Amino acid sequence: MNVDNEIARRKTFAVIAHPDSGKTTLTEKLLLFGGAIQTAGAVKSNKVKKTTASDFMEIEKQRGISVATSVMSFEYNSRLINILDTPGHKDFAEDTYRTLTAVDSVILVIDCVKGVEEQTEKLMEVCRMRDTPVQVFINKMDRDGRDPYDLIEEVEEKLGIQVFPVTWPVGIGKEFKGVWHLQDHQMTAFTAGSAGEELKVFRDKESEELTNFIGNTFAQQLDEDLDFLNELYDEFDQEAYLNGQLAPVFFGSAINNFGVQELLDYFLKIAPSPFARPTQARMVEPLEKKFTGFVFKIHANLDPKHRDRIAFLRICSGVFKRNTFYMHTRINKKLRFSNPTSFMASKKSIVDVAFPGDVVGLYDAGNFKIGDTLTEGEELFFKGIPSFSPEIFKEVVNRDPMKSKQLDKGIRQLSDEGVAQLFIHPVGQRKILGTVGPLQFEVIQHRLLGEYGAKMDFQPLNYYKACWIRSDKLEAMAEFKKRKHQHVVKDKDENDVFLADSAWILKVCREDFPDIRFYTTSEFKVDLMAG
Ligand code: G4P
Repeated sequence: MNVDNEIARRKTFAVIAHPDSGKTTLTEKLLLFGGAIQTAGAVKSNKVKKTTASDFMEIEKQRGISVATSVMSFEYNSRLINILDTPGHKDFAEDTYRTLTAVDSVILVIDCVKGVEEQTEKLMEVCRMRDTPVQVFINKMDRDGRDPYDLIEEVEEKLGIQVFPVTWPVGIGKEFKGVWHLQDHQMTAFTAGSAGEELKVFRDKESEELTNFIGNTFAQQLDEDLDFLNELYDEFDQEAYLNGQLAPVFFGSAINNFGVQELLDYFLKIAPSPFARPTQARMVEPLEKKFTGFVFKIHANLDPKHRDRIAFLRICSGVFKRNTFYMHTRINKKLRFSNPTSFMASKKSIVDVAFPGDVVGLYDAGNFKIGDTLTEGEELFFKGIPSFSPEIFKEVVNRDPMKSKQLDKGIRQLSDEGVAQLFIHPVGQRKILGTVGPLQFEVIQHRLLGEYGAKMDFQPLNYYKACWIRSDKLEAMAEFKKRKHQHVVKDKDENDVFLADSAWILKVCREDFPDIRFYTTSEFKVDLMAG
């Protein structure tokens, strides 16, 4: 076993998108290429993304399924690809943000009819926080979408990243003829529902065969496009891609498995293998001999009768081995895992060894919080599992005084899992939960009752944002806290957080307290590398 080779051949990434753009469909096609699944629908049928009303069965299903498809691995051209799944429902967006800390690159899917959407922008913001390399797939070209020039301009403007088209569409919607590969200088002809078939390829742009296939108007348009694009986009700048500044762009139709091969081939060529990750003390290189890793996601077990949970660990360096003692650095305790597991669709298997870039599921009886680090003994804490300002805030109201302890424990454990963010008001220890979407509150109420026997309600609070506050001036902070004592709370790590009623109030506070810095995420880029 050559560990260096194992690391170099791994590519760990996530497919991200605004809901409905085709993330699930594209993921499924990628898995089909790798032979990881045999039939279309294996991933898709598992998806619950349109749940808006109370439907606990659906919520439970969503939880179960996201465990089952947490990491989808396959071998392709002697590479090992790990796709980390992200939830389809926007209410679970925080899960996605956290998963992005565990990948080495992403593929961003955009719907060519809708262009860059709200969630696309948020996801990109998270990518930008850690300069994650991005490839863009513009999907649904079989639909009457927008002009490709408009689309790439929008990507550059709204997402703040430069683009580098690798394929370019010939026609769109009913007139979609195929994509021209700007590097390979050939066109692949579009055929609807072409999964698995050999596609027709035109290698000579001037050939009569190509002109006959696409027609004179498109042939002329292709000439003009190529003149323009070749002029504008010269050589691919690999370094700019790896620094998250340049995104190769592909056009296609995931449902028709079209344009996906081009995306995958290019991905294999350029996407990074596992790279160094920052801790509070130093950078950890994947090639280091000693094992390190961090937990980026925690899931309650599928069986509601057991309180076991599964913590998902991203391996950052060395080799992770089954049945070996590792140090849990936050609680300073040695733990060993007899059944580390990999998940793939409905298949589970025990993992004996795992390498940097891999993710293993660890059965956990309550030792882990999101962000926890395991090492061979060194006191390290991986950085960069951010919390983002929630959008909806509610206060917890206990409905059964006999069960206060259970309620307290349940709330803490669910917030360790990242289901919601817990804020505690210093006066009276009032508990405030913040989430991205309303669905999480249903999950919380349902689980507190089902798993902890704690009956509770929520009292809605009208907050606009949670802002982590910092200041270099002690007096300024003391003055701010005094003046705003009703709205300053502590997060799970005892950081001060200001709950702002409105955008206007926040603006006024910023003006009135120039020595206080307000952040809408718990992690600030400048602090990433600081001790
Ligand atoms: P998501 O995970 O990003 O939320 O998107 P998903 O793959 O579920 O795709 C959303 C919808 O878009 C699905 O239709 C899917 O079939 C469709 N779709 C995906 N890729 C393409 C494409 O290339 N062209 C076209 N025309 N449609 C595409 P749905 O009606 O919501 O679901 P279903 O009934 O097809 O399952």
